[in-house]
Amino acid sequence: MPVLSGRMRQLGTESAFEVLARANALQREGRNIINLGIGQPDFPTPEHIVEAGRKALADGHHGYTPANGILPLREAVAADLHRRHGVTVSPDQVLIVPGGKVTMFFAVMMFGEPGADIIYPNPGFPIYESVIRYSGATPVPMPLHEEKGFSFSPEEVLALITPHTRLIILNSPANPTGGVVPKSEMDRLVAGLARHPEVAILSDEIYGEMLYEGTHISLTTYPELADRLILLDGWSKTYAMTGWRLGYGVWPETLFDHAERLAINCHSCVNAAAQFAGIAALTGPREPVRRMVAAFAERRELIVASLNRLPGVRCPRPGGAFYTFPNITGTGCDARTLQGQLLEKAGVATIAGTSFGEFGEGFLRFSYAASQEAIGKAIDRIGEFLAAA
Ligand SMILES: Cc1ncc(COP(=O)(O)O)c(C=O)c1O
Repeated sequence: MPVLSGRMRQLGTESAFEVLARANALQREGRNIINLGIGQPDFPTPEHIVEAGRKALADGHHGYTPANGILPLREAVAADLHRRHGVTVSPDQVLIVPGGKVTMFFAVMMFGEPGADIIYPNPGFPIYESVIRYSGATPVPMPLHEEKGFSFSPEEVLALITPHTRLIILNSPANPTGGVVPKSEMDRLVAGLARHPEVAILSDEIYGEMLYEGTHISLTTYPELADRLILLDGWSKTYAMTGWRLGYGVWPETLFDHAERLAINCHSCVNAAAQFAGIAALTGPREPVRRMVAAFAERRELIVASLNRLPGVRCPRPGGAFYTFPNITGTGCDARTLQGQLLEKAGVATIAGTSFGEFGEGFLRFSYAASQEAIGKAIDRIGEFLAAA
């Protein structure tokens, strides 16, 4: 038997992929399954972006690109951040990577090792905790509170910082809760971080353009963090490009070379045609994004109202992303059991809150990246199941 490294036992996974596999297996058996477990827009990539990718291939862009990404794409990222947040970043700080996840992996690899602490949101994107464990660091959960719209308490987060803390991960708007951290809370956290200048911050803002009220508060707008802030963003959600594998990190000057070296060791560069498509996304018409976000906004109203009508379910209105995270403790079921029963008996795929960390017990994640008809039918099925249970 080959002998694996001990680290491999630390690596977790994303249950969304397991649920998807089970949902597909049931479908192959002839069952009709409505999938509200999925974490990607149910829209195609806008045509002008697809066309730019096609043209790049036809024009012969078939070779390696620079490891950090082609300059026009990095310039387009810098211009987009200026348009959205009014901030100035140099294209030289932008590292183009194959998807949003890669910036997360690199940041954790850069700071994580045995003896180091990394603070991460819980319930949160499961890969944070998985990769922290893989690095050998200790994952320190930052509790998100239902009664605060799934924001954190800045004082509670600051109290988690110890001399071992190397990195804090933030994610707003958030997966799986749809929670958005209010500016007042972010201000208090940033003010408190002034007392901990040695702690780096990874801000995962991949849902930054999927906001239904107010404006997105980007950590890039706090100049006092500039020398230790890593911004994670990408094209997957905003432009419905999950399969293209395109994302970026904006790194402080002092960290950039390390991140680029990780890229060279890992993947050399990102698919060239995808990079040209990425330019078209950032510089082209914004109407497709507006239309998609408007559709999500309507579905949010529908799903929240429908879930709140179910017995034992309490669903706050999420501020962003395309997820809602209702409290299901009133059903008398734990999250994992309810996830299983809804899939097997009601034919609706959802994800147990515990897939996002221990503080996710008592919640289920619903994605509303599905048609209004599918959402309506799914909630009807769940209602019938709960009534019969
Ligand atoms: C919070 C969060 N960050 C990052 C990612 C990763 O995005 P990508 O598919 O671009 O790697 C996801 C995807 O679901 C996410 O929910």
